Amino acid sequence: MDTLLAIRARGITKCFGEVVALDGVDLDVAQGQIHGLVGPNGAGKTTLLGLLLGLAVADSGGLDILGTPVGRTFAAPDGVAGFVDGPGLYPSLTARQNLAALAALRGQDPRAAGIDDVLAQVGLTDVADDKARGFSLGMRQRLGLAAALLTRPRLLVLDEPSNGLDPAGKKHVHGVLNRLAAQGTSVVLSSHRMDDLEALCSEVTILATGRVVFSGPLSKLAAENRELDYRLVTSDPRATRRLAADAPGIRTVDGVGVARQGAETLVVRALVPDLDELVTRLVREGVALRELAPVVSPLEAAFLALTEQPEPALGQRDTGTARHTADTGTDRREADR
Ligand SMILES: Nc1ncnc2c1ncn2[C@@H]1O[C@H](COP(=O)(O)OP(=O)(O)O)[C@@H](O)[C@H]1O
Ligand SMILES: [Mg+2]
Repeated sequence: MDTLLAIRARGITKCFGEVVALDGVDLDVAQGQIHGLVGPNGAGKTTLLGLLLGLAVADSGGLDILGTPVGRTFAAPDGVAGFVDGPGLYPSLTARQNLAALAALRGQDPRAAGIDDVLAQVGLTDVADDKARGFSLGMRQRLGLAAALLTRPRLLVLDEPSNGLDPAGKKHVHGVLNRLAAQGTSVVLSSHRMDDLEALCSEVTILATGRVVFSGPLSKLAAENRELDYRLVTSDPRATRRLAADAPGIRTVDGVGVARQGAETLVVRALVPDLDELVTRLVREGVALRELAPVVSPLEAAFLALTEQPEPALGQRDTGTARHTADTGTDRREADR
């Protein structure tokens, strides 16, 4: 079974001084799968991706990458490409020269490395001879992806690749990743936003303060039985309030209802069966339903609920190992790439 796993991580723990960045993390990524790693700032995404790239080693736990156990030394495992905290580029070289330099460093003949092809794949053909210095964040991300593609990786690791991408850039990147996955390359990519990953990933792992709070198919996450907030616009707001107050399992959420174009919007929190019952009652009373939609998508709601930080009760401060979720900036690499 395990031979079909590109990544098999068990009980991975990584601390930075007092900070527990990863706390017993398990991760399975199948061959040819695009796996999303999602969590708020400070959840441990970059730290985990850094371990996959061999930029750091775990304090404890087991990590197999492409069927090989990862040792205690810093080294990118064979067949793995990608970057964390933005790609390393030479600002004074053009996009094409950057890729040629990287190919030469690896002992490849730059002319035979397929540079034009990867530039086209990421949509940078038109700026191939412009210096990287002038590139936007989205262009740098795409050039970094092109550099990774040159190595023909079997596992691609990308940290927040959607950052700074415009819709056209996103389309190129999604196209590249889908093609790679169809050819059997595994992809792990992170994001702090669930909606980034919906279009691309079949499975996600959600991290919150270093722990896995969900791992599995997106369909399972959305299907979890959870109360959601729904925006409700009807022909008779007053009757709607009365019926919502009487209906079982319905709570009116105050302070979020807004008047839009004269129509009063009510926000109710409910499970789907209770919402069905409310709608039935409204219609029975002759109240017409004009709008009914979740305030945030079910996936986003599940993500927010799972990663919410509970406020510690007074006198009940966490006495365990310190954790904090501050983003400490950019220079957090343990080893040079
Ligand atoms: N090199 C480092 N030194 C000290 N703390 C670090 C270092 N790298 C990460 N951390 C801390 O580890 C936690 C996880 O960080 P990170 O993996 O960057 O999270 P994410 O990528 O999900 O935003 C944070 O609390 C962060 O401050
Ligand atoms: Mg990060």
